[in-house]
Amino acid sequence: MSLYTQLLNIVKEINEIIRSRRSIFPKEFTGKILDDGIIDNLLLNANYAPNHKSNYPWRFVVIKDLALNNWLDKAAELYRVSTHQDKFKQDKFDKILAYKHQISHSIAIVLHRDSLDSTIEREDICAVACGVQNMYLTLSVYPNVGGYWSTGLGTYDSLMHEFLHLEENESLMGYFVVGHVELKRTDGHKRDFNKFVRHL
Ligand SMILES: Cc1cc2nc3c(=O)[nH]c(=O)nc-3n(C[C@H](O)[C@H](O)[C@H](O)COP(=O)(O)O)c2cc1C
Repeated sequence: MSLYTQLLNIVKEINEIIRSRRSIFPKEFTGKILDDGIIDNLLLNANYAPNHKSNYPWRFVVIKDLALNNWLDKAAELYRVSTHQDKFKQDKFDKILAYKHQISHSIAIVLHRDSLDSTIEREDICAVACGVQNMYLTLSVYPNVGGYWSTGLGTYDSLMHEFLHLEENESLMGYFVVGHVELKRTDGHKRDFNKFVRHL
C-alpha cells in the first residue's frame, strides 16, 4: 500500500471517529464497572488539548465506587432542596438515585483560573471544552463504553462545589459521565454544515 493510500485511510478513520461520536446516556448503561485504565486514557488524552500559554486550565475529579454513590445522593438532595415543591418531580429525583446502578465513573470537569495567568477566561473555557472533546473522541473508539457531558447533577450549585472540594478560583463545568454499554449507538442526524458556514 502506498504511503498516500495509508494516509488516506487514516483520514477516513479520523472522519469516522469524529462523525460516529455520540452522547450516550445513563439509561443505556448496563451498570458494569469499567477498567480504571479506560478512564486514565480519557484523562491522558484530555491533557493533550490546546490551551493558551500552556496554562492547563482544566482539573478533573474522578468519582467512582462509594464516592459515586455519595455524589449522586448529594445531587439528588440538591435537586430536592433547590426545586420549589410545585415543580419537584419524584421520578426525576428517583432517576438520579438510579444512576448508582448505571454509571461506572463520573469525571467532574473543572475550570481552574490561576491568578498568575494572563489568559482570558473565555479562552480557558474553550481549552477545557477541547479537553472534553478529546475524551468524547477517545470514547468513540471503545465499542462498549459510552459517555456524555452533563451540566445537570448540581453543576451550578455552590454546595456541589464544596462537596467536590473545589478551590475558590475553580468552577464546575459539569461532568463527563461514563458507563458500559452492550451495543453502542453511533447514528446521528446532524444538520448540513453548509447552513452554519459563511464565506466573506
Ligand atoms: C456543554 C455541554 C453540556 C451538556 N449538558 C448536557 C446535559 O446536562 N444533559 C444532557 O442530556 N446532555 C448534555 N449535553 C450533551 C448534548 O445533549 C449532546 O451533545 C447533544 O444532544 C448532541 O448529541 P451528540 O453528542 O450525540 O452529537 C451537553 C453537551 C455539551 C457540549
